[in-house]
Amino acid sequence: MKILVTGGAGYIGSHTIVELLQEGYDVVALDNFDNSYPSVLENIKSISGKNFDFAEVDIRNKTQLKQFISEQKDIAAVIHFAASKAVGESVALPLKYYENNVAGTVNLLEAMQENGIQQIVFSSSCTVYGEATPPVDENAAIPVAQSPYGNTKQICEEVLRDQSNATNLKVVALRYFNPIGAHESALIGELPIGVPNNLVPYITQTGIGKRATLTVHGNDYPTPDGTCIRDYIHVVDIAKAHVAAIDFLAKEKYHNPFSVFNLGTGQGNSVLEVIQAFEAVSGVKLNYQIGPRRSGDIIQIYADCQKAWDELGWKTLYDLEQSMASAWKWEQALAKK
Ligand code: NAD
Ligand code: WQD
Repeated sequence: MKILVTGGAGYIGSHTIVELLQEGYDVVALDNFDNSYPSVLENIKSISGKNFDFAEVDIRNKTQLKQFISEQKDIAAVIHFAASKAVGESVALPLKYYENNVAGTVNLLEAMQENGIQQIVFSSSCTVYGEATPPVDENAAIPVAQSPYGNTKQICEEVLRDQSNATNLKVVALRYFNPIGAHESALIGELPIGVPNNLVPYITQTGIGKRATLTVHGNDYPTPDGTCIRDYIHVVDIAKAHVAAIDFLAKEKYHNPFSVFNLGTGQGNSVLEVIQAFEAVSGVKLNYQIGPRRSGDIIQIYADCQKAWDELGWKTLYDLEQSMASAWKWEQALAKK
């Protein structure tokens, strides 16, 4: 079975290709390297010992995208990661996000329809829930999005649902909570460009000495230790869920053409707990200070993953310490390069 992976050179896409190849799927991937590097492709091949096809394609370029997909034979399903993901940038450059994430997805769906490809797994996000009462299940209300980025995920889910109602398209939308960590080989991982926005790369970069101090954004929240709570999930667990979603789509009947699943651990951890986990696995005393709250932060969120456990037959394998250990190993490997 051949799977097209868009954004295949990216953080989650690269880990997912490894899992697909290891499970015996054929893969064809595309990326425009807007937020990734061609060397990732060789590292995926080294880890898996397998080859896959790749083309440098921009999903905003409808002509190029359609030509590429029409040249492929026997694509059974698409896993669609390609998108821009920086929340702050999306506030400053909303049109970039609507063009890349929404128009890019529409282009992809058009190309799929023209070529009779009827299955898609879509990268959605827990950001669609905004500030909800955890544990959050898939029936939680979807409030007005807090950022253009979040809005693109809400809109794309609606586009996919409408297209599944109108055609034979079958959709799985996966709402990731906070993906962290890296492959155990330390050959692939997250490659934040510039100063990281996300907590875990900021911690590991501070641990290695690339950043002087981590600032904890507020410790006066109504949580046990005053810092915000998130559901941090190992990227390999996220990747394995995509293989489960592909299996699920292959089995699923047309009566349920649009399914949504949370991907988390079901466990919430505070910023200070993540720092403690890092210190425990690395033996490094992290230089951090408490700063003011970061505007727009959700106080606490973690997933109810019962639906994914029951219907995808998937469960996480890694805990927070294992995830932090893999993130640290990756940062150390990067430092040697
Ligand atoms: P990433 O930036 O590492 O990967 C995305 C890849 O898509 C990159 O390689 C980038 O070069 C490529 N890309 C972007 N625009 C493209 C275009 N127009 N044409 C072709 N390729 C393009 O991000 P990631 O963390 O791997 O995220 C993958 C998906 O998961 C995204 O849709 C993101 O919104 C979603 N998501 C990520 C997180 C997270 O915290 N990492 C959480 C929830 C959802
Ligand atoms: C986690 C916690 C920060 C950095 C983002 C996106 C969201 C989704 C997941 C894609 C918060 C605190 C962080 C730092 C800190 N991505 N923090 N110091 O905010 O849950 O969500 O990633 O869909 O859309 O917004 O993740 O890693 O930025 O922050 O104290 O230097 O760490 O305040 O409490 P977040 P994050």
